[in-house]
Amino acid sequence: MSLLWTAEELVTIMRARPVGQLPEGVIGISIDSRTIGQGEAFFAIRGDRFDGHDYVVKAMHGGAALAVVSEDKLVAFGHVQLPLLVVTNVLEAMEALARAARARSQAKIIAVTGSVGKTTTKEMLRTVLSPSGLTHVSPASFNNHWGVPLTLARLPADAAFGVFEIGMNHPGEITPLVKLVKPHVAIITAIAAAHLGAFKDVNQIARAKAEIFSGLDRDGVALINRDDKRYKLLNELAREAGVKRIMSFGTKRGAHFRAINVRPLTDCTVVDARIGEEPVTYKIGAPGAHFVSNSLAVLGAVSLAGANLAKAGLAMARVKPEKGRGERHLLNLGSGRFTLIDESYNANPASVTAAIALLAGAPKGARGRRIAVLGDMLELGNASQRLHKSLRKPLEAGGIDLVYLVGPEMQALAEELDPAMLAGHYASAADLEKPLLSALKPGDVVMTKASLGTKFTGLVAAMIKACTPAAATSGDGDAGGDASSKPVGRATG
Ligand SMILES: Nc1ncnc2c1ncn2[C@@H]1O[C@H](COP(=O)(O)OP(=O)(O)OP(=O)(O)O)[C@@H](O)[C@H]1O
Ligand SMILES: [Mg+2]
Repeated sequence: MSLLWTAEELVTIMRARPVGQLPEGVIGISIDSRTIGQGEAFFAIRGDRFDGHDYVVKAMHGGAALAVVSEDKLVAFGHVQLPLLVVTNVLEAMEALARAARARSQAKIIAVTGSVGKTTTKEMLRTVLSPSGLTHVSPASFNNHWGVPLTLARLPADAAFGVFEIGMNHPGEITPLVKLVKPHVAIITAIAAAHLGAFKDVNQIARAKAEIFSGLDRDGVALINRDDKRYKLLNELAREAGVKRIMSFGTKRGAHFRAINVRPLTDCTVVDARIGEEPVTYKIGAPGAHFVSNSLAVLGAVSLAGANLAKAGLAMARVKPEKGRGERHLLNLGSGRFTLIDESYNANPASVTAAIALLAGAPKGARGRRIAVLGDMLELGNASQRLHKSLRKPLEAGGIDLVYLVGPEMQALAEELDPAMLAGHYASAADLEKPLLSALKPGDVVMTKASLGTKFTGLVAAMIKACTPAAATSGDGDAGGDASSKPVGRATG
């Protein structure tokens, strides 16, 4: 395997002092001793809860080729048989490496921020850019002060494309990260009330997301959502930041990357779009209007990055919902089956609304019901009550049959809902487990969504365990469960 960095480069770029016999170089970079691979460099980063310096020995046993450690911790490593690179500050050393990775790269770089859809968009970019060339993408949601420099420092010298997720909880967090990444294309997926606690209002969130424009490469493009309520504001902010090329995606007239005709099907969506001048028809392998919105940003970025648009369009069919972001499970229930749509990854008003729309469009059995299981949306500050209440509208508009609520913040919605729709309100996800399982009927479609802190992942795991999967479904198109197109007798078992 080729080297990511030679030892010589590491020493020079990070101004490190070598201790011990250095290898020729490293094939990767890790900050996690549990997952480190043979021949990788271990960076002993200090986090909120852990200090990487406590895991250097474990990293060595895991195959680390060397460790980057801080001068003030060096005394602890007298006995360690691992070559070391000693620096003043390990995170700053990793940032220096990230800058060097960006400077040596010929790749087209795309950065993605937004209140929702960053990881979905980033993974879509991975799927559709890969047929055009070596594509480097941040793993998971590595989008913060260590995730971004780590991903950038890992950028292979010969990558054709680099895709970076950039997130924030507070104003000022995106600026230093985007200055490292220096994207050619900066996408803002959508602006919504997420992590509102740290902000006065949603416009302030838009301003913080717009920091991504400050780090654009010369001649870089700002790519914003034409359908977003804050489109005008983002456009102004991009202009203020000195961006010359501002482009947009969406369904509204005037969008540069625009959906002309959208056909939602049960397990996918077919879209006729115009990507710049080019008409493109493509199928997204996952249902949901939010996937369509993300796909338009993605194809816009593909075209701006000079990748092959036709190959990208074809690859869209391979897009699947990510874990906890719309994955479907067909589960056994007595003699019948029901569908679980797992949206348990996280929740804010925009993503819950998107998930309710997904549930509303999901096929159910002849006697089945559409059931929303919603837990608290956290970090919404003073707006929490109002935003929880506001979920009533999409639930009613989507014709959802039953709603189960979990957590104290959901009290506001419990008071708002028609009692015929409200099936129950529970203190915790664990409390809901039994009553929910015993209420389910064959043909039902259940969608679970809550903020991570509400522990819905445990509820989902319990449902899957209790009702063993009927088939490998995870978004593979068999979303219908007991689809209503089947004879009633068979459908409901
Ligand atoms: N464009 C969109 N508009 C509204 N909701 C969306 C959109 N894209 C994704 N979602 C919803 O948001 C949820 C989270 O998606 P995703 O993980 O892509 O977001 P993220 O921005 O990466 O989140 P995080 O800040 O936690 O990293 C999905 O399950 C889906 O419900
Ligand atoms: Mg993410």
